[in-house]
Amino acid sequence: MKALIYQGPGQKTWTEKAPPGIEKPTDVIVRITHTTICGTDLHILKGDVPAVMPGRTLGHEGVGVVEETGAAVRNFKAGDHVLISCITSCGACPNCKRQMYSHCDDGGWILGHLIDGTQAEYVRIPHGDNSLYPIPAGADEEALVMLSDILPTGFEIGVLYGQVKPGDIVAIVGAGPVGMAALLTARFYSPAKLIMIDMDANRLDMAKKFGATDIIRVGSGDTVEQVKDLSGGLGVDVAIEAVGVPATFDICQSILAPGAHLANVGVHGKSVNLHLEDLWIQNVFMSTGLVNTNTTPMLLKTVQAGGIDPARLITHRFPLGKIEDAYQTFSNAAQEEALKIILSA
Ligand SMILES: NC(=O)c1ccc[n+]([C@@H]2O[C@H](COP(=O)([O-])OP(=O)(O)OC[C@H]3O[C@@H](n4cnc5c(N)ncnc54)[C@H](O)[C@@H]3O)[C@@H](O)[C@H]2O)c1
Ligand SMILES: [Zn+2]
Ligand SMILES: [Zn+2]
Repeated sequence: MKALIYQGPGQKTWTEKAPPGIEKPTDVIVRITHTTICGTDLHILKGDVPAVMPGRTLGHEGVGVVEETGAAVRNFKAGDHVLISCITSCGACPNCKRQMYSHCDDGGWILGHLIDGTQAEYVRIPHGDNSLYPIPAGADEEALVMLSDILPTGFEIGVLYGQVKPGDIVAIVGAGPVGMAALLTARFYSPAKLIMIDMDANRLDMAKKFGATDIIRVGSGDTVEQVKDLSGGLGVDVAIEAVGVPATFDICQSILAPGAHLANVGVHGKSVNLHLEDLWIQNVFMSTGLVNTNTTPMLLKTVQAGGIDPARLITHRFPLGKIEDAYQTFSNAAQEEALKIILSA
């Protein structure tokens, strides 16, 4: 089969590799029909995730068709259409028992990281019963690729941890796929204002189409003052950090109303300066987290019912065999006006 193989920092090749086989009775082999590229894959290629070894197949998002199942798999059979979760989970260990799937003793984020991933013609999914979801007949399978990672991430770590409520003023810093997923799912709770903040004018225009009530382009004046103006001088009820750099965390900690929630979603490579000297008296809450994907069944139902339309996040499409071109486009997302790229086999 063909797979996109990480060859060390800055290097990847779409090349021939032995197809995966069943290694444990709980494994499922999936033939990939649609996959995508995540910002995290770009981090890996920069060498930011040293646990990824040369020779590893990249990718942790996708949908496909079950090719083969291990002897212990009960929920799936060959031919079933499945959604692959970016988080692998056994369903039985103490962390899985409390729905902390991202901290599973024998899973977590391992796809395209510690084991071969989804940017390939076939992938082996350990603990298939718990790490795959059946795709309802007639579903838009391309759109469901957004449920592997970005929609649960924006929803669980941004919206749910941020405790978005009806009438809230919510600011989301970062209008990338994850920030947009937080925007789409925050609307479940009817916030009064949804303020999107980014430096990319095109992404902010898209955010308006997805339901942002206000947009602020970083660099167009004092961002913190602009948020304060939009919130009657009080600050926001929820600030969602969806970038992962000190500058955007600083914006978030500077715009909180008393009692507000700061939900950090971004992956940080550098420490930030937490202004506890200002925040201690503000009765604020802060959360962090790696997506658990425990809300995937709920999000699937919401998509099927038309409550959200994740297909709107897809801006580009490529055949799977042209994945190197797709990486080129995704690496220049601002110039290419790219958000999510679908690769189809
Ligand atoms: N916690 C989790 O489980 C989890 C899961 C997936 C992704 N993530 C992280 O979430 C973050 C967002 O992911 P994404 O795929 O949307 O990333 P992305 O890179 O596509 O989007 C980030 C956005 O931030 C904007 N930005 C960058 N610097 C900025 C600044 N100084 N001020 C304002 N805007 C700025 C960019 O223009 C871009 O639109 C990343 O850090 C990613 O690693 C976390
Ligand atoms: Zn991802
Ligand atoms: Zn587990």
